[in-house]
Amino acid sequence: MAAGESCELVQEIIYDPSFVQKLFDEMSATYGLVNLVSSFGVCRKWRQYCLRQIEISSGCTTVDLMTGMGELCPEVAQRLGPQGRIVAVDISPVMCAQAQQHQKSRFSCTVEIMEADALCSSIPDDSADVVVSSFGLKTFSLRQIERLAQEVKRILKPQGTFSFVEISVPPAGWLKVPYLFYLNRLIPMIGRLLLGNPENYRMLGIYTRAFGSCHRVVSAFRNAGLETEVRSFWLGCATGLVGRHAEQLPGHAAV
Ligand SMILES: C[S@@+](CC[C@H](N)C(=O)[O-])C[C@H]1O[C@@H](n2cnc3c(N)ncnc32)[C@H](O)[C@@H]1O
Repeated sequence: MAAGESCELVQEIIYDPSFVQKLFDEMSATYGLVNLVSSFGVCRKWRQYCLRQIEISSGCTTVDLMTGMGELCPEVAQRLGPQGRIVAVDISPVMCAQAQQHQKSRFSCTVEIMEADALCSSIPDDSADVVVSSFGLKTFSLRQIERLAQEVKRILKPQGTFSFVEISVPPAGWLKVPYLFYLNRLIPMIGRLLLGNPENYRMLGIYTRAFGSCHRVVSAFRNAGLETEVRSFWLGCATGLVGRHAEQLPGHAAV
């Protein structure tokens, strides 16, 4: 088999939704702790940055794509208040079960946990005021990200906003080398120490390297008709996509 063919085959496997689902089903027992310890708590900050890029008004409907264990939900719920609604989507049934167990009863707003593929969910058209997502982009191929962008456009109401954040490969060489060493070597070791499967944590490094940064995928969002900007955090160790569905609300002509 030629090198190009084997590379395509690897891509086909690692971006297959059932492969990704199994990966996170397996990681769910240790994901939260490994994530927190291996990032020295920085991942929490990056989730906050993600939410602070946009306004989340009380009473609105917010969709959290690739929700995991619902890590964004506490801060979103605080902003939404009792009249608000969160639809938290994840493809992994075990992650969804954890989200259900950890989150649902603690919030005053309505939380609906939906086990679904974010690329083809049953969320109705024009139903979300806001779409958010933390660390859920890297396990998609470029083609899947194009599909995701179309889905974000479909489910957002006109003038609805979105914010995504993802761990990224920083552009500066002096930072990139130690950062990749950390991703590829140290995180799997931490995963093993905390009783996870190091191979699964190694996969996260592989996805992150292939993903690069949000600069690589911003055109997919723009081509879907979403006004989108890239944000960079911590010298590009994380990047974000922030934007809105630019169509006017019915009855509000553009000026
Ligand atoms: C790295 S975790 C991020 C979880 C969480 N948002 C956080 O901040 O830690 C990525 C999550 O995306 C989910 N996921 C991956 N592909 C998906 C898809 N096609 N549809 C829905 N969820 C998906 C995985 O099951 C996993 O829970």
